[in-house]
Amino acid sequence: MKNKIIDLIAGQVTDITPEEIAALIEIPPKPELGDFAFPCFRLAKTMHKAPQAIAAEIKDGIGRVDFLDEIKCEGAYLNFFVNKEQFIASQVQSMLKDNYGSSAEGEGKTICIDYSSPNVAKNFHVGHLRTTIIGNALYKIYSKLGYHVERINHIGDWGTQFGKLIVAYKAWGSEEAVKKDGVAELMRLYVKFHEEAEKDENLINEGRAWFAKMEQGDPEALSIWQWFKDISLAEFMKTYKLLGIEFDHITGESFYRNMTDDVIARIEKAGLLTESDGAKIVNLDEYDMAPCLIVKNDGSSIYATRDLAAVFYRKENYNFTKCLYVTGQEQKLHFAQVFKVVELLGNDWAKDGLVHIPYGLVSLSGEKLSTRSGNIIYAEDILLEAISKIKEIIEEKNPGLPDKDEVARKVGVGAVLFNDLYNQRIKDVSFKWDKLLNFNGETGPYVQYTYARCASILRGLEGFTPSADIDYSVLTDDASVDLVKELSRFGKVVQDAAERYEPFMVARFAVAVAQVFNKFYDANRINVEDEKVKTARATLVYIVKTVIKDAMSLLGIECPEQM
Ligand code: ARG
Repeated sequence: MKNKIIDLIAGQVTDITPEEIAALIEIPPKPELGDFAFPCFRLAKTMHKAPQAIAAEIKDGIGRVDFLDEIKCEGAYLNFFVNKEQFIASQVQSMLKDNYGSSAEGEGKTICIDYSSPNVAKNFHVGHLRTTIIGNALYKIYSKLGYHVERINHIGDWGTQFGKLIVAYKAWGSEEAVKKDGVAELMRLYVKFHEEAEKDENLINEGRAWFAKMEQGDPEALSIWQWFKDISLAEFMKTYKLLGIEFDHITGESFYRNMTDDVIARIEKAGLLTESDGAKIVNLDEYDMAPCLIVKNDGSSIYATRDLAAVFYRKENYNFTKCLYVTGQEQKLHFAQVFKVVELLGNDWAKDGLVHIPYGLVSLSGEKLSTRSGNIIYAEDILLEAISKIKEIIEEKNPGLPDKDEVARKVGVGAVLFNDLYNQRIKDVSFKWDKLLNFNGETGPYVQYTYARCASILRGLEGFTPSADIDYSVLTDDASVDLVKELSRFGKVVQDAAERYEPFMVARFAVAVAQVFNKFYDANRINVEDEKVKTARATLVYIVKTVIKDAMSLLGIECPEQM
């Protein structure tokens, strides 16, 4: 409709391009002012006439058009009143097409997303839950826009800490204990190492020596490390399974360990490497940043070195247009340094191509969450707790529901994800069971419940199939028009969410659709005698159901058919 209006205006005035017209067109704040408005101030300057006069001229020039009920001049504005029936028809027809809301903007382009990336021998905590959820949503959103996405899990599986862990395991650990308690035991050993190292400085050197052995490929060191890694990955996988999340590459820091020498040589050749207290760094004073540490004074590589190697590996192998890094905001400086070094090595693409996507903290204030030991909160436990709380609600309210466990998983996990994705990334996420599990608030369960309601309505209509060949005059009441207008935002919402790396825009949209739908449903009975009315309204219900399902799936949330 907007394009048609742009064409009409462009047909009347010459000294403005269709793109300029498009940028000027507004959606009026009140329905009395029409569906679209065009301000004439900009034309007044070049045409040397009063904007009111220009508005009147354009209106007269356009005359009567079938898809518009009316054009009104309001001061300097032209207000367009779209014919409701035609508007609804054109919208509904496009919504019934496959993959509504998608676009081809990303065709032929690749985006790498580096997310989740928990650390071996440490628990998968709530912070990692955030990067996992946000990264997965960005993957879905970019895919919807036609991009090819490489999902990369940059596990923290290399570094001096593993040398220390080997020392601790040999001194105070046992195979049985590690087998029995997994990551929790590895964490205990790591804490123990640091306690003991306070008394015995030599332990630090021993730890370094074991990491040096790892870097040199010593079989014993590597086999212990590999075992710790396998145990940790098996635990992480349980969390991924609950979330229904997969990766294309689980390539941790160790994957790049043989590529760091090459990176160091490149930096040296470019004349960027300088010595500082026995370590090697890239000085970034000129850019108001602390130096980027490349080689430690004990000769070992470091987090940043491996990240540099990873950038080049990904650029060469995936030829990305963008590589996104989803981590907490405390890593802001790290990524700024790494990106700067890539750029200084003569890679202009680093400027727009490498993007850090930070997010805020999780605050659990006042909430009781189950902890396994030492007050450490595992993401898996949060998810399991949400699932079990939902299971209780189901047992109480709908004990006869089929597939109760699967429904509880979808709704419990959905509630946690939705709560995380409902606000801007950078905002802290607060965790309140009552709020996030509420079936009536702005929550995952509320949207899922609305979806199940749509599904149930449609199940009750025998022989109904959605159709574009319906009587659109049935759908011109306010509640139906509001619903169609809301649904029509989907494509733009997905685009905006991708452009700003903000899944919350999709989450807000899902809630808005559910709310407007519930109003529509209060105002309109679906299962009525009149077949024409029934089919038209049910087609709208079908679209709502599809759009909610798709929007929720962009957030990584599944919608059960029955709740
Ligand atoms: N393992 C890191 C952590 O837990 C996150 C890694 C992020 N990705 C990267 N390429 N540095 O903080």
